[in-house]
Amino acid sequence: MNNNPIGIYDSGFGGLSVWRELYRALPNESLVYLGDGKNCPYGSQPPEQIMQYATQSVERLLERGCKMIVVACNTATAVAIKYLREKYPEVPFVGLEPAVKPACLTTKSGVVGVVATERSLQGEKFLTTLARYGEGVEVVKVVGQGFVEAVESDAESLPQTEMLVRQTIEPIIEAGADVIVLGCTHYPFLRAVIDRVIGDRAVRVIDSGEAVEKRVESLLDEYDMRASEDNQAQYEFMTFADEAYAERLRRKAFGE
Ligand code: DGL
Repeated sequence: MNNNPIGIYDSGFGGLSVWRELYRALPNESLVYLGDGKNCPYGSQPPEQIMQYATQSVERLLERGCKMIVVACNTATAVAIKYLREKYPEVPFVGLEPAVKPACLTTKSGVVGVVATERSLQGEKFLTTLARYGEGVEVVKVVGQGFVEAVESDAESLPQTEMLVRQTIEPIIEAGADVIVLGCTHYPFLRAVIDRVIGDRAVRVIDSGEAVEKRVESLLDEYDMRASEDNQAQYEFMTFADEAYAERLRRKAFGE
């Protein structure tokens, strides 16, 4: 048993889509969320830079006494998780990867779309999973250009965001995809717009939120680290940006 918090980090708001799953499923676990905010977006930055942000974020979360760290960012996972596991061998890490396996296993049309950042689409694990499960499946890979920025500026419901989403999603559907994978934790915040663009066409959208929550639970059990049943969970929001950004993180987390 361990009542210390679980640490979750991302370049900004995106990891809150993972935070929400943990908050719902694990009500007695304290959560410390770190949304960088200062260096966001990570998506096209050089790997060395993303590794440096990763170290900085993990150090902050460890200072707060986190018992486990969820790298709630596909980009940071693709670039830095191996490095983090080597650097902090005593810390259990959970990473995020695009849900290509379930997508490839369930597509009926044989075409799958993956929307993610540039770095995530180059990730080693992503490419090996694709090679393993993507045989005979056409995988249309697209960068969600401007998606992260739209979420960071609370512009999810603006018409220009819908146009951006339409420009990205429409060609994937036209290519025949019946499953679209959201391979960036910011993108679930665009889910309403994505669903509107899809309309009544038979296209499923999947993200990794639920699978990650399950993975966290299994690691908590493996390390015998679950919080006690009477633990009063605390929720903290940290950032490398300013106080106003931390407050926006808190509001977005609670859907205010
Ligand atoms: N939310 C992130 C991801 O899952 C990072 C996006 C970014 O900062 O570009 O990749």
